[in-house]
Amino acid sequence: MTNPNHSALFDLTGEVAVVTGAASGLGADAARAYADAGAAVALLDVNEDGLDAVRAELEAKGASVTAIRTDVSSESEVRDAIAAVTNKLGEISIVFNDAGIFARDSAETFSDDEWDHVFAVNLKSILHTTKYVIDGFKRRGWGKIVNVSSVNAFYVDSDERYVRDSYYSSKAAILGLTRALAARYAKYGVTVNAICPGLFKTGITANNFEEPGFGETYAKINPSGRYGQPGELNGTVLYLSSHASDYVQGQYVIVDGGLSLL
Ligand SMILES: NC(=O)c1ccc[n+]([C@@H]2O[C@H](COP(=O)([O-])OP(=O)(O)OC[C@H]3O[C@@H](n4cnc5c(N)ncnc54)[C@H](O)[C@@H]3O)[C@@H](O)[C@H]2O)c1
Repeated sequence: MTNPNHSALFDLTGEVAVVTGAASGLGADAARAYADAGAAVALLDVNEDGLDAVRAELEAKGASVTAIRTDVSSESEVRDAIAAVTNKLGEISIVFNDAGIFARDSAETFSDDEWDHVFAVNLKSILHTTKYVIDGFKRRGWGKIVNVSSVNAFYVDSDERYVRDSYYSSKAAILGLTRALAARYAKYGVTVNAICPGLFKTGITANNFEEPGFGETYAKINPSGRYGQPGELNGTVLYLSSHASDYVQGQYVIVDGGLSLL
């Protein structure tokens, strides 16, 4: 579906966006962006307090919003959540697959359970959400899937303190899955793309920031002179979630202030 009205390219009025990992960090930021762009927003996360806070914030701004405690590693929980969202807000047209976790593991230290759990939350969750929204996307001839990968799909840490082999692997696998889904669903007017953030100060990176000098050291080596600030992912989020990207398929956008250029 083409939209010749350029000023409306990023307008999400009437759309329903599902955000996983919406209780904090980049997911909560994306939910704010979707609401500002006019979409109704469904917040999914395991963190109920965080969900309540983001829901209250968006409701106070007049947004149409629902929050559902959902473990995205569970297919049945995602299935039920998608059904509840559709009931409450209407047909879903955007999914922002943001929920993510890491474990400190390596070939020498990993445990099966932990490795599988990281992959279930970071990667398999994308299959879960896609499975339950795709029929509606096909029927409507338009839909947007945006997957949150990481610069760690390409760049890893040699420092033992930061080793996260399941995280690096799952984030790289997200890019493969993004391409596979994009190729399969393009003919239905559905786009599937990914975002690879660099360092942002959020729940997942909070431990790193507790180390004295961590944020300052990163800022010094980053060409932009800082780590990512709240909201700085949202231009890319809205681009890949709107008519602005209707002919963009299976791509990733690195949002890291230029660190990966060095
Ligand atoms: N912050 C960064 O520097 C950075 C960099 C690259 C990629 N990312 C990615 O961005 C995404 C968002 O992370 P963030 O930085 O906002 O951190 P965050 O920890 O603030 O947010 C992650 C959210 O995912 C939720 N979550 C965890 N397990 C879940 C599950 N099983 N089901 C549902 N929700 C679950 C958490 O409760 C949390 O609200 C993650 O995929 C992360 O890998 C973050």
